[in-house]
Amino acid sequence: MRLLFTTSFLLILLYSCQQNNEVQKTDFISAQNYYVSHLEQAIFYMDSLTKIDNPATLKQIYFQSKRHYKLSEAYAAYLNPEAGTRVNGPPLPIYKEDNGKVMAPVGYQTIAETVFANSLDQEALAYQTSITLGYLDNLLKNVKERELTPERFFFAAHDQLLRILALGITGFDTPTTFKGVEESALSLEGFLEVYEMSVSENVISKNESLNKAIKESIDRAIVYLNNSKDFDQFDRYEFIREYFNPITRNWAQLNATMALWEPVDYKPLNFVAPTFFEENSFNVKYFESPNNREADSATMILGEKLFFDARLSKSGKMACATCHSPDKAFADGLKTPIGNDGMPLLRNTPTLVNSIFNKSFFWDGRSGKLESQITNVFTEKREYNTTVHEISIEILEDVAYKTLFKETGKTPRSNNDIIKSISSYVATLNGFNSKFDKNMRNEENTFTSQEIEGMRLYMGKALCATCHFVPLMNGTVPPFYSETEKEVIGVPATAENEELDADLGFYSFFKEDLHKGMFKTPTVRNAELTAPYMHNGVYTDLNQVMDFYNNGGGGGMGFDLPHQTLPFDSLSLNDSEIESIIAFMKTLTDADVQKSKKSTAKEFLTLSK
Ligand code: HEC
Ligand code: HEC
Repeated sequence: MRLLFTTSFLLILLYSCQQNNEVQKTDFISAQNYYVSHLEQAIFYMDSLTKIDNPATLKQIYFQSKRHYKLSEAYAAYLNPEAGTRVNGPPLPIYKEDNGKVMAPVGYQTIAETVFANSLDQEALAYQTSITLGYLDNLLKNVKERELTPERFFFAAHDQLLRILALGITGFDTPTTFKGVEESALSLEGFLEVYEMSVSENVISKNESLNKAIKESIDRAIVYLNNSKDFDQFDRYEFIREYFNPITRNWAQLNATMALWEPVDYKPLNFVAPTFFEENSFNVKYFESPNNREADSATMILGEKLFFDARLSKSGKMACATCHSPDKAFADGLKTPIGNDGMPLLRNTPTLVNSIFNKSFFWDGRSGKLESQITNVFTEKREYNTTVHEISIEILEDVAYKTLFKETGKTPRSNNDIIKSISSYVATLNGFNSKFDKNMRNEENTFTSQEIEGMRLYMGKALCATCHFVPLMNGTVPPFYSETEKEVIGVPATAENEELDADLGFYSFFKEDLHKGMFKTPTVRNAELTAPYMHNGVYTDLNQVMDFYNNGGGGGMGFDLPHQTLPFDSLSLNDSEIESIIAFMKTLTDADVQKSKKSTAKEFLTLSK
């Protein structure tokens, strides 16, 4: 099989080189109509929900509506992500920062809670469906009015593939019904149908075997999904490696063959990457601040030197690397770090590996920019204790820096420029070479049965991946990656789990009850190296973290947390399942980032005046 794939891959390459990539005009009208028609049916069934008394019929009608929505979601949500998220997003209230209003939860996931409850709340159902219908009507208008172009088709289809991986088979999409595996099959059926009515014919004329490979890979995945509907037992390891990746590989090949659009680096995903698990599957530039994304390598080297230089702090004793140490995955191994007054700071030091893939920074997620996070280090009394306007004379006059400044073409005027260079360096601290990544790319097949079970649970029954999203494993939400989620999970003050931590997190900004104890979802990549855990460093090992989740977080342990976003119920994981999840988390350790940066650390660390 593998051999076959490689040969056909080469043939395709040769073939596509001979073609002039002129695109025949493909008629996308029927594909657009397909989306319109399914959205209309989703609306029809949604509208019927309030007219039905029989509970069993009600559930069926719900599934009908959701089914048709799934078949139109790719294009609808692509055109209008905000409405798409309202229609099919988490069943949680939304706080509007601009006007301080709280919007009640609506959409399929909320309606499922109502429809599948023991007794039906008619009033809630009427409200939820009427608001959801408003959003669906909006989507319908968009889908009807905006012509389906080849480029839109590719982006939308690609989004839908990622949704299957990150939101479908993980249960994010289906918290009440647990039909994520079945719905993923449905998504793929829609995907195939649209493919066949749009580009397929053109692909046949250019490369018949590719067309066949695309169809076969999708068919095989649908069969596999339909044969393994049990959400808990579904083997994510096998599915991704053997059934899902072939689809994305063919899809990338299709792009290369048809050249229907130019690859771009301003979108979160690199559409040329053959799977979602490559080292370059994400475009770092998209995640960088718009005014600081064109750094050259000289600037990054400058940033690196500055990162290790304690002369930037007023005391001359504190560098970024003091707390973000390369040999501890750029964290520090402490419960909380020590400020320049010798006293512990409030929160635990997070890893910087892959931190660029965040849309909010600080544990409370209050800032949307890496630069503001770093600026805070400069201005904070107990950290660098300086200002952004100053700049250290020592640095300016240092010969080594003078050379580096010259290479970057400009001499910094203030710490603002320094901060930009450090950001550019932090944006290079990325790593996707863990055992997990290599196995997901099919470079090796080395997962133990325990790790396979751990992955099945992490992406399934234990719900971890509904917040720590695959493949980044942080809270930045696929497929648009425009926000990083903050959650209320109820972290306690001490490892004895006796009382809630006093730090209210994001609450301090708007004094909104929903935000009490709300913190950003951090990455679990490299968790093996970043103990202690949580914003307050309360847990010293992953077993304690797992016990916390197994008990339903703070709410499940009896703390007063009405707005906890983590389900309160116990996960009912036994000891061996817990061990498996921990074993899986350890496959997310990426030794390469540490290794490559450790050598430079010694060279640069300048700790005293
Ligand atoms: C005294 C220890 C200390 C020093 C020095 C320090 N940091 Fe941090 N860093 C922290 C802590 C603690 C947090 C979490 C702060 C919070 O959420 O309130 C943090 C958070 C961060 C984050 C956010 C990561 C994420 O995923 O949200 C980045 C980025 C960061 N630091 C970069 C830097 C850089 C760059 C420097 C040097 C200019 C630096 N830090 C210096 C302790 C430190
Ligand atoms: C409802 C969303 C949610 C779910 C579900 C969830 N987490 Fe978390 N996770 C978070 C948030 C938010 C934090 C940070 C909380 C804090 O510090 O107050 C966190 C923190 C962690 C940390 C600590 C990371 C660090 O650097 O300190 C680990 C490890 C972790 N989670 C693993 C898991 C595992 C394993 C599961 C599944 C059993 C899971 N999480 C389920 C939201 C979630």
